[in-house]
Amino acid sequence: MDLKKLFGFEGKNVVITGAASGMSKSATELLIELGANVYAIDINPIDLPVKKAYQVDLSNKEEIDKVIEDLPSKIDALFLCHGIAAFPGKELLVQKVNFYSQKYMTEELLDRITDHGSVTYISSVGGFGWQQVYQKAIELINIPTWEEAMDWYDNHPDLIKSAYVFAKQCLLSYVTYKCMSDEFISRKIRINAINPGDTTTGLTDDFNKSTSPNGDAQEGAKMIENIFLKSWNGYPAEPKDMGFPMVVVGSDICSYMSGQLIYIDYGLTSSWLSTSLFNEKQKSIEEISHETNN
Ligand SMILES: NC(=O)c1ccc[n+]([C@@H]2O[C@H](COP(=O)([O-])OP(=O)(O)OC[C@H]3O[C@@H](n4cnc5c(N)ncnc54)[C@H](O)[C@@H]3O)[C@@H](O)[C@H]2O)c1
Repeated sequence: MDLKKLFGFEGKNVVITGAASGMSKSATELLIELGANVYAIDINPIDLPVKKAYQVDLSNKEEIDKVIEDLPSKIDALFLCHGIAAFPGKELLVQKVNFYSQKYMTEELLDRITDHGSVTYISSVGGFGWQQVYQKAIELINIPTWEEAMDWYDNHPDLIKSAYVFAKQCLLSYVTYKCMSDEFISRKIRINAINPGDTTTGLTDDFNKSTSPNGDAQEGAKMIENIFLKSWNGYPAEPKDMGFPMVVVGSDICSYMSGQLIYIDYGLTSSWLSTSLFNEKQKSIEEISHETNN
């Protein structure tokens, strides 16, 4: 079996963001190995032998529009991976980088994505519980222009207070909402997201600082360990643990997979779900027995 053929990236045009570092850099290395023509975008310089590298601030609409003009007219796979941690005062920036630019690029490039092509995002375990904001997220998703969306954010300060979580939840809502929408399904364009657990990357230090109420990296690291690793005596993932599966999801190997929110966290979020379902069941049993006793 020819593995390159199985992936189906050889000679294909692939656009990937966030490629200077971390998970996306790992993914880019694999895409190059698989023979793709990679068009890679990052705010920082990209030191990989890609077909073309762009140094662009993807929170800036004008810069995005400029790079879009230069990207190829036919794109087989789009991977949107750029992201930042959330710090006080940066709530709107986090929405732009971690969600809105990704929605905007998807929609601006959709006409160029080939039939049976793919769009794959990196969301996060931080987006777990996205169903709670789904209706608000759809309201935002349906706003037609970048400028009006920025006004919407200005009018919803409470929602974007948990900046990182809300942006990642919007991404997961987007995948769920769009997978069967006419613009994707009529041309059989697949749309999926991976949800990484704790991974050691260029973002680790910022995540540590932003998690601690005092901005103390050591304290934040301990808190992250307690939330994501302690319950299973676990260890952080490496960038390739996320980047490689993401390439598989966007490849022909997953040719029948769409609308999926794939948690890559050693089962952590499944255990959260299991606990909450179990507790709900226990609660309703207790309520019933309480009512019966009365
Ligand atoms: N590291 C983790 O534990 C973790 C967990 C869950 C989800 N994620 C998500 O994974 C994705 C990849 O991040 P990573 O952990 O590999 O971190 P990383 O910092 O190594 O990679 C993120 C890349 O995005 C780029 N970027 C940031 N802002 C940008 C902008 N305005 N314009 C263009 N590029 C920009 C950065 O320069 C960097 O190269 C992010 O979306 C992040 O939110 C990370």
